[in-house]
Amino acid sequence: MRHFLTLKDFTKEEILEIINIAVDIKKDLRAGVYKKQLENQTLAMIFEKSSTRTRVSFETGMFQLGGHALFLSNRDIHLGRGEPIADTAKVISSMCDMVMIRTFEHSMIEEFAANSRVPVINGLTDSYHPVQLLADYLTMLEYGINENAVVAYVGDGNNMTHSWMFLAAKMGFDLRIATPKGYEVDSDVLKEALEIAKLSGASITVMNDPAEAIKCATIVTTDTWASMGQEDEKDERVKAFKGYMIDNEKMNLATQNAKFLHCLPAYRGQEVSEEIMDTHSEIIFNEAENRLHAQKGLMVWLDKQRNK
Ligand code: CP
Ligand code: NVA
Repeated sequence: MRHFLTLKDFTKEEILEIINIAVDIKKDLRAGVYKKQLENQTLAMIFEKSSTRTRVSFETGMFQLGGHALFLSNRDIHLGRGEPIADTAKVISSMCDMVMIRTFEHSMIEEFAANSRVPVINGLTDSYHPVQLLADYLTMLEYGINENAVVAYVGDGNNMTHSWMFLAAKMGFDLRIATPKGYEVDSDVLKEALEIAKLSGASITVMNDPAEAIKCATIVTTDTWASMGQEDEKDERVKAFKGYMIDNEKMNLATQNAKFLHCLPAYRGQEVSEEIMDTHSEIIFNEAENRLHAQKGLMVWLDKQRNK
């Protein structure tokens, strides 16, 4: 049995297996074909933070695969009132076939997984957002961009950045990260990613100058400056990130026909300008839709591992 907590635990081949299942599932859906690959299965979804895409894509995806999803907010279950994580994991995994968790500290999901009898999927922690990166890689491939990509990430060194680092390290593409001073990526995660990158030939570089990161990029991406849980720091972050907005001027530094990705939700006028969101809306909303297909691929893949 496998869990999906970070991309670090997956090989390039395994990531491609998941993506390939997703590609077939997307094709089938377009043709109106629904294969009940997870018939009678139940996915428990524990949300300790808000969500639009993650909730809708997992719940819809599970239904389309013939299963059922339960939305469990921490306001409704005893976890939010102090029931131990291990007890919660033992109980839920004795009744459900898979669990998806969105939470704060990454150690919470690790402890849950250690006590779970069924696969646990990371739907975002403070440190990582790996399901988003499955959708992002599917999107890159659909637009003909693969391991030759040069990805520029401009903004906060956060959960999205860390997951981009592991994706680049595993798949072998170049990632250039520009963050303001004081908002850099976690140094331990960087060390780990650089170790993995040695094997794939990926290059991961960190800097403080957005222009430097963007020049030569085939993909430019960013994320909110204040993640969930950092609402109190919003004003101070807006000041610290001055000059980091992706606008036409910055996008023009990238290669011709460079694409722009955003995991959403986007804050227009902060990390990205209105015009960039408008110009690149086709790929951005396809990226969002790909959450559905990529996660269906992931759930089918995890189920197959269990049955091996
Ligand atoms: N990108 C993403 O995970 O969106 P939600 O927070 O809406 O789930
Ligand atoms: N970094 C953001 C991602 C949202 C999908 C957050 O954690 O809020």
